[in-house]
This record gives sequence, structure tokens and C-alpha cells, in this order.
Amino acid sequence: MPVPELELLKVVAAQWASQSIYAAVKLGVIDTLERAGGTCDGAELARRSEVREEPLNRVLRALVKLKLLEEPHPARFRLTGLGRCLRTGAPGALASWALLWGGEFQRSWCNLLPALRTGETAFDQVHGMGLFEYLQTRPERARLFDSAMTGLAGFLYAQVPQAYDFSGYGTIVDVGGGHGHLLASILRQAPKARGVLFDQPQVVGSAGDVLRQAGVAGRCEKVGGDFFSAVPGGGDLYVLSNILHDWDNTRAEHILRNCRRAMVPSGRLLLVEMMLSSEHEPDLARMTDLNMLTLTGGKERTEAEFVALLARAGFRLSSVRPLQPMTCLIEAVPT
Ligand SMILES: C[S@@+](CC[C@H](N)C(=O)[O-])C[C@H]1O[C@@H](n2cnc3c(N)ncnc32)[C@H](O)[C@@H]1O
Repeated sequence: MPVPELELLKVVAAQWASQSIYAAVKLGVIDTLERAGGTCDGAELARRSEVREEPLNRVLRALVKLKLLEEPHPARFRLTGLGRCLRTGAPGALASWALLWGGEFQRSWCNLLPALRTGETAFDQVHGMGLFEYLQTRPERARLFDSAMTGLAGFLYAQVPQAYDFSGYGTIVDVGGGHGHLLASILRQAPKARGVLFDQPQVVGSAGDVLRQAGVAGRCEKVGGDFFSAVPGGGDLYVLSNILHDWDNTRAEHILRNCRRAMVPSGRLLLVEMMLSSEHEPDLARMTDLNMLTLTGGKERTEAEFVALLARAGFRLSSVRPLQPMTCLIEAVPT
């Protein structure tokens, strides 16, 4: 029979699991196992990771409990299908997420309580600057973040190109489009459209591969800039995927106003965001809302909050389409 206190204890101690995964990924244990054909002795893993064998074996046994590894023979470990998702370069980029959430994101979460008291964003309190400023000065962490976002796009927004008719748009601008995974999949669905991938200069500067691999680089321009100053003009559709949730209402309105100013009069806005307090609210939404509070000072929003925010920036919400597993397509038109 389940013991409620024990179930609660598992939640209270959930950090043990994410820190064990972080340690294994950071030490390269998962990649070493993959290179060894999936199975390796704990002693060899410890030697290659330059850590002590006995405590590493204990971490690896915890990963067995998490179904990431198996231990077919004593102190010999094998990657499971789930564990393989944590290898470098695997679809979904879970290794990048493990490194971010086990590292600087984790340290920010440790500051949730003081941030609640002061109203400051926890990440800013811990690191002395905002997340995107932090990434600007740390190319290796920025690469990790961009690859993590690209991985997320691969499984979270995979349905977007089929769920919305992009074929009628001439120019589609992806505002804060990262390395362009979503825009590439949209352009493949809309063979006559031209794309503009807009993001911070250092992000678009390193963004070629995804567009090339999708075969759309020839009709996609990369533009670097700051969406608080301006976004590229003349677009028929402005896509903002996971952008507004990074910012408070004032900053989000600012970005939307710049899109409104930049688009052609018949233009459209398409938000790819989670939605709170609706029948479509995904399981993770309340935690993601706190993650935004902690990392960027942003928030997830209800439909009423989107309606109000859009109205303040000169838009009317025209449709909402929920997509599995946890996102919504929100279309808006200029008023
Ligand atoms: C949460 S990520 C979303 C990336 C992508 N749209 C997606 O859904 O995977 C936020 C993006 O906004 C970009 N960004 C942040 N501040 C920006 C700014 N001031 N101007 C332009 N882009 C910015 C970041 O570089 C990052 O790529």
C-alpha cells in the first residue's frame, strides 16, 4: 500500500535524482557507455571519468533505479533506451538540459525563497545579470542553451507545421527563433515562403546547420538584433515561440508592439506558448511558470492574460489551437 509520507519524501528529495543525472552527464559517463557499445564496467567508467570507482558505482546504481541504466552483472552497467536519450547530440538534447538544470539553473532555483522576498529574479540575484546577458558572455553555455532549445523544438513543437496553414504567407519572421529548428520545419511545409530568422547576433551567427540540413537555407535570411529595439520589417507572419513567457507584461508588450509596427497591415502574429488555467493546461505548466519566474522573471499566461496583453499591444486574439504534448498555437491579428 502506498505510504503518503514516502511519496511526499520522494518529491521533497527530487533533487537527488537530477543531481545524479547531472553528475553522470557532466563526467561523460553516458557518452563513454555509448562509445563502448552501450555496456562498460564501473571500474573503466571511473578510470575514464577520473573519479573514484566505489562512489561512482553508487551513482550508477541510482541511475539503474531511474531506469536509465541496467546492471546485468555486478558493477557492469548498460545504457537503456531512456538512458541513451542523455547522450550528447541525441534528439531532444536532454544532455544539454541536464547540464543546465544541474548547473546554473539549479543554483538559481536555490534562490527562489530570497527572490520571493525581494521581488528580484533569482537567476539575476545569483549570477549578477539576466540569463540572456549571462549567455552573451559565455559562448560555451550559450551553445548548450541553444542546443537545448533546438532539442525541445524537435519534440515539443513537432506538430506546429501541420497544425497551421503557413502556405499563404510570403515572408515568415521567427522572432527569437534561436537556431531556427521551428522555422526550418515551417518553411518545409510552405515551399513558396521566405523565412527570416531573427535573434541576438551571436545566436543567429552560429545558426546555419539546422537551416542547411533542412534544405531551406537558400530562402531563409538570418538577421541579428535586439527585439526590444526593433524586429525585421515587412513580414506577413511573425512567429514568437517561447518568447513572451520569458518576460513580464511590460517587456512582453514592448516586443509585441515592435512586431505590430514591423508587420504589413494584413500581417498575422502566431504565438507558440503554453496556456494556464484551461482544459489544455499541460501537467508541467505550473512548474514551467515557476521556472520562468526563477530564470528570467517571466511567466506562463492564461487565455485572458494573453487577450489583455495582445490588446495592449494592438492585436486581437483570433484563435487558439492546443497541440500535444504541451503547447498552444495562438493566432492574433492587428486591430
Ligand atoms: C526561450 S528561447 C526560445 C527559442 C525558440 N524560439 C524556441 O522556441 O525554441 C528565447 C530566445 O530569445 C532570444 N532573445 C533573448 N533576448 C533577445 C533580444 N533582446 N533580442 C532578440 N532575441 C532575444 C534568445 O537568444 C533565445 O533564442
